[in-house]
Amino acid sequence: MDFKRSDFPKDFLFGAATAAYQIEGHKFGGAGSTHWDTFAATPGNVIRAEDGALACDHYHRYPEDLDLLKDAGMDAYRFSTSWARVMPDGRTVNPEGLDFYDRLTDAILERGLKPFQTLYHWELPSALADKGGWTNRDTTKYFGDYTDVITDKIGDRMASIATINEPWCVSFLSHFLGHHAPGLRDLRATARAMHHIMLAHGEAMTRLRAKGMDNCGIVLNFEHSPPANDEPATIAAANLQDAIYNRWFIEAATKGTYPQEVLDGFGDHMPAGWQDDMTQISQKMDWLGVNYYTRHEIVHDPDTVWPSLKAAEPTLDLTQMGWEIYPEGLQDVLTRMSQDYVGDMPIYVTENGMAWDDRVENGAVFDPVRMQYVSDHIMAAKHAIAEGANVKGFFYWSLLDNYEWAFGYEKRFGMIHVDFDTLKRTPKASYHALKTAIAR
Ligand code: FCB
Repeated sequence: MDFKRSDFPKDFLFGAATAAYQIEGHKFGGAGSTHWDTFAATPGNVIRAEDGALACDHYHRYPEDLDLLKDAGMDAYRFSTSWARVMPDGRTVNPEGLDFYDRLTDAILERGLKPFQTLYHWELPSALADKGGWTNRDTTKYFGDYTDVITDKIGDRMASIATINEPWCVSFLSHFLGHHAPGLRDLRATARAMHHIMLAHGEAMTRLRAKGMDNCGIVLNFEHSPPANDEPATIAAANLQDAIYNRWFIEAATKGTYPQEVLDGFGDHMPAGWQDDMTQISQKMDWLGVNYYTRHEIVHDPDTVWPSLKAAEPTLDLTQMGWEIYPEGLQDVLTRMSQDYVGDMPIYVTENGMAWDDRVENGAVFDPVRMQYVSDHIMAAKHAIAEGANVKGFFYWSLLDNYEWAFGYEKRFGMIHVDFDTLKRTPKASYHALKTAIAR
């Protein structure tokens, strides 16, 4: 790797990230059904209809996984607590679920790692999905109640608490594009989910502040999305994509407004009185999480209705996901966030990584493309710091190969390989390279 720990400020954190449904094994410990279980059980949504019932069995194997994280010389662990494990029907507490996160927290701390919790990484209880999920305003209040319950149990020991992971995925990807649970393709549902997920963030912030938590933020995903050419229609399309994907959520969380061009597209489908929620949504945060993976050049698509745009054919090297590798985009988004939205507020790269068709050969996994990818993106964070962004840490996605949502177990993002038949863990070459770099 081209960097060493000493290239970064003393308090800069290196870590790895996971999410509950993707690794734990949701059939254990009395967890309730989530909308991902039913989405996966519906033909055509997920490759081979795979779900998170067993996943990596982190529920039982977390001590081994945390040992591997610690042995890599990491400082922090980003994980999510599953709402459906803590409250299987979304409202009634499951003590077994709470106890799991209590044990997990202690195990993280015992290894000298800093716990970075995410409250919602898509583990919506089916009972609440039945009532409309994120299209229903009531879900935001129930989310607040869950925030209270889990914070009372483990909040005092968290280094950091994120409200929502990737609201774009929760709302637009899931209610407009239909690629994630609940798999809707509906403009009205989208407008509601885009607002309610930010209201859920605001509600959780209110509950966390009432308990004196001073380490709270949100995790947003960003893509570099320039116009593919300089025709006016292309430029307008790329600007609209940027507004939907990159600006809607950060603008709401920091300025209390939504981009007008997206509001115009939603017309009268926004929930009535949404303006009254914007003060709660934009209350001050302590840090911002940035997830960044790729670039998509954008073109105008005259054959479709709003937003009349699509991704152009890729021109750069691709990962196993078919995502272009473009580290400069990370530098760009970190600098942009600091200059346009958060100023000196700490920023963490809460996810960055890539999938590859990794194989175990002679007991080892050689993944040179990932080594270069990680090195280049960590260097991009370093350049952003030099440009003035207050970047405080970098979390690799992901600690383990895991359940990659609609792609099932086919796409391998881990720095540790998981054999999904035997559940054996094998650290990849990138794990060893990262360990060496952060020890230097
Ligand atoms: C992000 C998600 C994470 C994982 C990576 C590859 O959008 O937060 O759960 O799926 O992408």
